[in-house]
Amino acid sequence: MLPVAKKPVIQYIVEDLVDASIKEILIITGKNKRAIDDHFDKDPILLEDLKKRNKVAQICDLEALENLSVQIFYVRQAVTTGLADAVYLAKKFVNGEDFVVTLGDTIIDSQQNPNHLLRLINFHKETQALCTLSAERIPIEHCNRYGIMSIKEYNGLISSKNHTGKYIVEDLVEKPSIEEAPSNLAICGRYVFKTRIFDYIEKIGFGKGGEKQLTDAIRLSRENNKIVALELQNNEIRFDTGTFPLYAKAFVEFCLKDEEIGPELKAHLKKILL
Ligand code: G1P
Repeated sequence: MLPVAKKPVIQYIVEDLVDASIKEILIITGKNKRAIDDHFDKDPILLEDLKKRNKVAQICDLEALENLSVQIFYVRQAVTTGLADAVYLAKKFVNGEDFVVTLGDTIIDSQQNPNHLLRLINFHKETQALCTLSAERIPIEHCNRYGIMSIKEYNGLISSKNHTGKYIVEDLVEKPSIEEAPSNLAICGRYVFKTRIFDYIEKIGFGKGGEKQLTDAIRLSRENNKIVALELQNNEIRFDTGTFPLYAKAFVEFCLKDEEIGPELKAHLKKILL
């Protein structure tokens, strides 16, 4: 629920899913996260109050939120035993269909149509992979914050001129040291799966950080299944809000993009940074 400019992070993520034509969302929540359910509930009293006070901009924002064409469901993870266990809670919900996982601390801002998520879904349909990962090149010294992949080009083309950003994933390692990292290509918080991934989640033990790691389940599946990755393009920017410095950058960038407050904030920043 951290606000980034005028909206909480979760709302950017839900809007991204809606833009990718997802109609049903399951949010995995937990202790002290009830504010998420409240946020997506309709709020006629607040709407009435805003109307009385003629708060036009806020009325538009609230109506846009309430009119999102999606059904949202919730399930609680009682004990936080890792990302793989959290995803496993969705097994009944997905009911045999391919499904998308998006992590709650990452916004991907796509300046294009289709957005990154829809490109990822389309690539998943094209490849019929068990698992399709969104990927980003990161500075190698940050590799211990991410799942890192070893890859080969999806279509066999290796020249940078023909670079497609599509890969076959040969191996993965969760939060490796620089020495262990097979590349600087990181899993960046968006996945599309076939439901067979649940079979592999059932088989993994506790991994890095004493948690059940989704990366370990994907790794386990790689012997008998196809895993592919799609790299972010230049106009698809990932904002990680999981640490304070990155959150601060995301907040400022989204405020600068806001039509109402952006120009004034830009002028103010220029003044204080001179
Ligand atoms: C998780 C995943 C990791 C992935 C990262 C992306 O880590 O385990 O593989 O690269 O998200 O943000 P977390 O950030 O939850 O530690």
